[in-house]
Amino acid sequence: MAKAKVFVAREIPREVEEFLAEHCDCTVWRGEEKLTYDTILDKVQDVEGLLMGLIRVDENFLNHAPKLKVISNFTVGYNNFDIEAMKRRGVIGTNTAGALDDTVADLIFGLIIGAARRIVELDKYVKAGRWEKGQDEIFFGKDVSGSSLGIIGMGRIGYEVAKRARLGFNMEVYYHNRNRRLELEESLGVVYKDMDELLKTSDFVVVMTPLNESTYHLIGEREFSLMKEDSIFINASRGKVVDQEALIKALENRKIQAAGLDVYEREPIPKDSPLLKLDNVITLPHIGAATQRTRDRMFMVAAKNLVQALKGEVPDNLVPEFR
Ligand code: DGY
Repeated sequence: MAKAKVFVAREIPREVEEFLAEHCDCTVWRGEEKLTYDTILDKVQDVEGLLMGLIRVDENFLNHAPKLKVISNFTVGYNNFDIEAMKRRGVIGTNTAGALDDTVADLIFGLIIGAARRIVELDKYVKAGRWEKGQDEIFFGKDVSGSSLGIIGMGRIGYEVAKRARLGFNMEVYYHNRNRRLELEESLGVVYKDMDELLKTSDFVVVMTPLNESTYHLIGEREFSLMKEDSIFINASRGKVVDQEALIKALENRKIQAAGLDVYEREPIPKDSPLLKLDNVITLPHIGAATQRTRDRMFMVAAKNLVQALKGEVPDNLVPEFR
């Protein structure tokens, strides 16, 4: 039987490519430029499977890929999928849930500590040759250990953040989630709160929800106004979960103390964004999962999902909407 045709939208580790080649007739994009919505359309015409990142999939995209059966994202996020359009066409989608939880949770903790202890700001200060006096209260930050942490979105990554906070930093952990996680309340001692209560009582607020219609601009002016004036806000999920204008205002007007960000409404963040001028915000270039080991794992997980789907099996990481 002929192997199913598959297109991979970027270079992948050799072992992953070899694995795919065993099972599929696989073409890997090796071009210099990164493929986008417009440039991928003529490459998907005769493929049954696609392995790619966060390129938008809508009706028009699907019309260009009449034979498509499965799109395997090599990311955990799948906000690029138009789920209804895919369902209408009988195309399923998979992600890499579970492959990057520790790596993203580690980064979130980096942002928490970095923003609380002003690590980036004070590093710049020292390198600019401005450190003339000894230890001084102008360098004071905020304690992480023993403070309270509110997690909005208690999925796998939220759980890893909660674990670090409880076991490593002795923090009070509050969470808000679509479903209560009673097992975690019992095993980790995390406390469920409604959104407003969580915002009002947390020293640190971490957003870790997926982006979808119900989470778009979940955090805006009203939510920032509820937060403590010395609170620190962390977002490593998706930029559009937060109203960025409102975040900028909250930071400029010191409605909140600081923020640690890995994601933005537009990426790469425009060079003239006011966020880039603020000392009380750490701005990272969407590096949540960006370590070699984790990326390699994510590609392999994505490849396995793709092969499983093409064999007619239920892929390990079929996204919930297709289950
Ligand atoms: C993901 O996998 O969705 C991450 O955002 C990538 O860094």
